Amino acid sequence: MSLPSGFLDELRSRVPLAQVVGRKVGWDTRKSNPGKGDYWAPCPFHAEKTASFHVDDKKGFYYCFGCHAKGDALSFVRETENVGFMEAVEILAREAGMTMPAPDPQAAARDKIRAGLVDVMEAAVQFYRLQLNTGAATEARAYLERRGLNAAALERWEIGFAPDSRTTLFEHLRGKGMAAELIVESGLAVPPDGGGTPFDRFRGRIMFPIRDARDRAIAFGGRAMDANARAKYLNSPETPLFDKGRTLFNISPARAASGKSGSLVVAEGYMDVIALVGAGFAHAVAPLGTAITEDQLRLMWRVADEPIIALDGDTAGIRAAMRLIDLALPMLEAGKSLRFALMPAGQDPDDVIRAGGSKAMQAALDAAKPLVDLLWQRETADQVFDSPERRSALDARLRALLAKITDPNLRGHYEAAIRERRQALFRPATPGGRVGPFRGPRGKALPQKASAGARASLLARDMADETRVRESAILLGCLNHPQIAERFEAELERCQFICPDLRDIATALLAGLHLDFGADARSQGLRSYIEATLNADPLDKLQAIGQVRDNPYLRPEADPALAAQAVLEDLNRQAATLGMAAEVREAEEELSGVADEGLTWRLAQAALARDKAQRAGIGDDSGAAQDDSDVRKQLYDFIDNARWKKKKH
Ligand code: UTP
Ligand code: MN
Repeated sequence: MSLPSGFLDELRSRVPLAQVVGRKVGWDTRKSNPGKGDYWAPCPFHAEKTASFHVDDKKGFYYCFGCHAKGDALSFVRETENVGFMEAVEILAREAGMTMPAPDPQAAARDKIRAGLVDVMEAAVQFYRLQLNTGAATEARAYLERRGLNAAALERWEIGFAPDSRTTLFEHLRGKGMAAELIVESGLAVPPDGGGTPFDRFRGRIMFPIRDARDRAIAFGGRAMDANARAKYLNSPETPLFDKGRTLFNISPARAASGKSGSLVVAEGYMDVIALVGAGFAHAVAPLGTAITEDQLRLMWRVADEPIIALDGDTAGIRAAMRLIDLALPMLEAGKSLRFALMPAGQDPDDVIRAGGSKAMQAALDAAKPLVDLLWQRETADQVFDSPERRSALDARLRALLAKITDPNLRGHYEAAIRERRQALFRPATPGGRVGPFRGPRGKALPQKASAGARASLLARDMADETRVRESAILLGCLNHPQIAERFEAELERCQFICPDLRDIATALLAGLHLDFGADARSQGLRSYIEATLNADPLDKLQAIGQVRDNPYLRPEADPALAAQAVLEDLNRQAATLGMAAEVREAEEELSGVADEGLTWRLAQAALARDKAQRAGIGDDSGAAQDDSDVRKQLYDFIDNARWKKKKH
């Protein structure tokens, strides 16, 4: 619905902000000065005892000096009542005695459909509930009992049963006078391809109603009892009521419960939430069969400052957490973050509670790690940082990650936290042990001169960026021209990728190389294969650097021979760099004890070696060949004869 111009301004001026806010907070009377429209209170958006929340009643704005929450009367109502924009307008309009403008006919029609859908869904909840008591549901009841759900839990979650028949629900709803189109639009029935009576979507499944923040039934999750069923869970499709990326299972009760504890637990599945609530963690929610979205994160942060993500203790759970970190980084604000509670291997919260009760779960939640810890772990776990290249590659990754944090103050804190960990990693205390290159003669860490340090880090950054450019270029060329990857398969296999994310792409690319995607769709097929393997589109990574993305030789439409040449050049440089890494390691041993002079020297050597490698690249005359096949032949001879000889020193 569109509002007439000036409507909102009038609304804001008619309802004083102090009046709206005053219902939710207790003013600090000593600090406030009502005569000036100046009000202070403890912030309703974060837990605090002091009054950092300021309302400027004259301007109609609020701002919290603690958590930086800010806005006007409308945003205040939206945030505190958890309603949408239009609803907030309605609430305030009622308060102001203003009549809402007549809705436009289209919006009115949509609202009517939605209201009709709500009726359909509620009728279905009742229907499924009753079905659970029938003889047809004997097996379902036994299953639920085995899973430890008693009568109270079945009642609490309104768990039902969809009979294993084609149209029982559809007929039932029709019998209640509901329109066939509406039933189809609710997602509960599906029209057959050839036309005819729609059939029930959910058949022979245990049914979990999904309710939105306002407690309306908007969808169902249906669990198969048979372990071999095609889909363990079947969810409602998206409908005008159900946007699965914008809601969370159990959000409304969890929000109410969270008001007291101020925290929120996020599990992966409905069953986990049901077990958590049963074990006394009423503030539990779950996404609905998809990875957590930005909207869901925002929803979670409206309930709690630091939701705890309870991760299934398997690789999928950990991978999901890693994706969540990337999603969350740009959205972090002061006071708004995440914690991660890792369940024991192979268990989800439901399993943990079954095995160890609330106590075990509480222990896992108490041990939850802050986001920065997981970030650090992800970037450093199982890796050895025994060369400047590797260290600087790590630095480059961390820099790129931290740059994603948009809140400057928070970014500063993250940088400090990461710096601390980085120093601990790169300068391990070695009492009586091996004396590393950064240490003095007696194993004492020498203070690093600022100038040398600054120089070194500048050099290190250049090198890390170059590594990423080179590795992205190799992979982009290979992905856009799979025949190049095939031709240089052995070289690719031998090539060590230093950037871990690119290394993953290389591994997936090599694995997908011999799959049959059809000659025409090979590049696309390979890309989809890598995407499915890594859960991320490889092109996003490979085209992240402008210099690589815009390189005409790497494009899909580039001449294959020239593309091959471009890839080959970078493969050579990569090989040279890796050879050089060995040299640098040797230099490190010789130079142990020379402290920062040693560092700059080694980096200078590294730069020299790199230049040497570049100068020794492909000969200048290869471009002079007359035609494609000539170039190609020359190129291949070149590879076969010369390129992969081990560098001697
Ligand atoms: P899980 O496979 O972890 O299921 O999926 P679960 O919650 O532990 O369920 P039980 O204990 O086996 O009954 C987690 C969530 O992923 C979605 C569902 O939302 C589920 O709760 N999911 C899973 C699907 O949507 N479809 C599936 O086939 C499987
Ligand atoms: Mn489970």
